[in-house]
Amino acid sequence: MKIGIGNDHAGVELKNEIVAHLQERGCEVVNFGTDTHDRCNYPEYGEKVGRAVASKEVDLGILICGTGVGISLAANKVEGIRAVVCSEPYSAKLSKEHNNTNVLALGARVVGSEMAKMIVDEWLDAEFMGGRHQTRVDMIMAIEKKRG
Ligand code: RB5
Repeated sequence: MKIGIGNDHAGVELKNEIVAHLQERGCEVVNFGTDTHDRCNYPEYGEKVGRAVASKEVDLGILICGTGVGISLAANKVEGIRAVVCSEPYSAKLSKEHNNTNVLALGARVVGSEMAKMIVDEWLDAEFMGGRHQTRVDMIMAIEKKRG
């Protein structure tokens, strides 16, 4: 499993903890984020990871900013991306099972590192259920085709 990870200046520490956790799980990690605390702009990293997922350069993406909100909004502007911001594991698991999310966003100022790792684990371990959920995901993706 190859994971693309991206973050702004607010997410550096949590990113490092999540990278170590992913590597412990046996994942290959590609770092698209910043590694300094110099103020930067989260849309850049949301878009980079979104494009890496959409082009299949990586299998899934994980994004971290202060709240996880802005960076997930940016990723969701990339065609083919279904990014979700989660602060608890239940929504993370269901977002994969029902919504087939391909990017998970976390708020470094919202969740602690242990909670963040639990969210990541639930999300990675969950599988899309297909069936009636596929119909609904197809409907979401059809909205992209109507943009203009
Ligand atoms: C940066 O201060 C902060 O706005 C950013 O990390 C994120 O929370 C935006 O959604």
